[in-house]
Amino acid sequence: MKIAFVGKGGSGKTTLSSLFIRHLAANEAHVIAVDADINQHLGAALGLDEAEAAALPALGAHLPLIKDYLRGSNPRIASADTMIKTTPPGEGSRLLRVVEDNPVYDACARTVRLDDGDIRLMATGPFTESDLGVSCYHSKVGAVELCLNHLVDGPEEYVVVDMTAGSDSFASGMFTRFDMTFLVAEPTLKGVSVYRQYKEYARDFGVALKVVGNKVQGPDDTAFLREEVGDDLLVTVGHSNWVRAMEKGRPPRFELLEADNRMALQSLQNAAEDSYAARDWERYTRQMVHFHLKNAENWGNARTGADLAAQVDPSFMLGEHIPVAQPG
Ligand SMILES: Nc1ncnc2c1ncn2[C@@H]1O[C@H](COP(=O)(O)OP(=O)(O)OP(=O)(O)O)[C@@H](O)[C@H]1O
Ligand SMILES: [Mg+2]
Repeated sequence: MKIAFVGKGGSGKTTLSSLFIRHLAANEAHVIAVDADINQHLGAALGLDEAEAAALPALGAHLPLIKDYLRGSNPRIASADTMIKTTPPGEGSRLLRVVEDNPVYDACARTVRLDDGDIRLMATGPFTESDLGVSCYHSKVGAVELCLNHLVDGPEEYVVVDMTAGSDSFASGMFTRFDMTFLVAEPTLKGVSVYRQYKEYARDFGVALKVVGNKVQGPDDTAFLREEVGDDLLVTVGHSNWVRAMEKGRPPRFELLEADNRMALQSLQNAAEDSYAARDWERYTRQMVHFHLKNAENWGNARTGADLAAQVDPSFMLGEHIPVAQPG
């Protein structure tokens, strides 16, 4: 299952991602957490201290390795240099599994020990001022898109991405790579405006989008969100003393999280599972090809000097049936 948390800055994306990840670990799911937010705080929210968080490898810094590994022996991809963030897998490509060891995880993932089990954490690396201009920003988040497009995930396996709802994720196909997108919204006009924009982009792509109300203080807040987003409102989360205690550097055990917040997290898991059960691998593959052709034409062909449309393997479909090449 591939899941994204998006929303306005400060709405609680990182907090809710981290709570959801802890909840999944408590339910014995296998989890890869990915920090693709502008402010890289997911590690801290999962309990890493400053030094540990700072020592996380950056996906953006390992792009050549990632490309070389995923390319495998795919004859349609002449070299890692011609591989862009949307280059789709084809015959000969190496795919990633949530539960396995591979050179990409060795270089880019770190194990984080939670109260209820271990998860893997990957991070894009901090965005600098210049990254917010188009190309470099893309290359950092592009590493995540490449991995998602080469990842075959099963039912008890989760990839949870804490990410920015910026227009960059719409230019690439990133926003279509998830079984469920949780849009975190505070009960304010600004909070729901990000939802409207996202909904508009997502409309033509069958993106499953649900709103998670955060910092909701009472029935008025819930009614406001219900009025603004209708049935897309999945659940609301109130102020959490557990979160506050964690932010004071005194994280209580996760089993002490407030019961209503725990129930909210379970609704998120249920919604994600329902959506994953309905995943259409054919559409999933078709959309990655669609965005690849679009990016090839818009900038990729010019940038690499190659005809990137030729990278598409017309007979390839991503799916659980595909045997995954052993690393080596
Ligand atoms: N339900 C909650 N209960 C208590 N505190 C919360 C809750 N949700 C968020 N917060 C607090 O609000 C602040 C912003 O949350 P968070 O960092 O998760 O937002 P974000 O959307 O990831 O922000 P950014 O855009 O900076 O990445 C944090 O201090 C967080 O601890
Ligand atoms: Mg954040």
